[in-house]
Amino acid sequence: MRYDSMKDKVMVALDVNNQTEAFAIRDTLGDSVGWLKVGLRLFVAEGPSLISSLTQTHKVFLDLKFHDIPNTVAQAIESAGALGVQMVNVHAGGGKPMLEAASQAAKAFPDMLLIAVTVLTSDTMPKEQALKVALERAKLAKDAGLDGVVCSVFEAAQIKETCGADFITVTPGIRWGNQDAQDQQRVADPKMAIEQGSDYLVIGRPILQADSPKAAAEEATKMMEVATSV
Ligand code: C5P
Repeated sequence: MRYDSMKDKVMVALDVNNQTEAFAIRDTLGDSVGWLKVGLRLFVAEGPSLISSLTQTHKVFLDLKFHDIPNTVAQAIESAGALGVQMVNVHAGGGKPMLEAASQAAKAFPDMLLIAVTVLTSDTMPKEQALKVALERAKLAKDAGLDGVVCSVFEAAQIKETCGADFITVTPGIRWGNQDAQDQQRVADPKMAIEQGSDYLVIGRPILQADSPKAAAEEATKMMEVATSV
């Protein structure tokens, strides 16, 4: 796989304070990455108008991890779809009826991927337990008709094995070299993420806090390429 396709697997977490900072990162990165991820911090600060600006240059993952009663989540999915984002997520802990309601609502937006968070990569539960819970929740999400899950790199291969190769795995907790894991628990580098079958790598602070965010993004995509060149 070439560089061009690898950069389309990188999602930069825009965990910044406001639109000005978000636009600065977007402009610095340019087309070195395919996706921008808007999470709670930025969305609460800036709201939907920011999303329509970002979708002009990149694919956008709205990472708000909806977790509420089925009716409320279904309506939130409709609102997300109306914003034109390419990916949105719910928390699989919300249970089967909630996942089914979300899946039903997402059908109106065929270009938007619906993903379920399994276990946060920051969760301190032992790795074996995280794998068990992540697998159970991935099966639940698959049965409810979702497109894939957010999981750690350590669960990606088994989830693919159980739910099928085209069931999407999105993996945060990416670190390389001597980068600090910070609040993340189950971290892996970009090469390992690809080797384990991750479809999308969510990368925040290793890019945001780098001296050159663009160089850091390119370093990550080069490491991803290595995984496919052996
Ligand atoms: O800075 P860092 O690379 O740790 O950022 C990871 C990003 O992925 C954050 O935006 C975080 O909210 C998000 N995320 C996560 N674990 C999940 C789901 C999302 O770390 N299970």
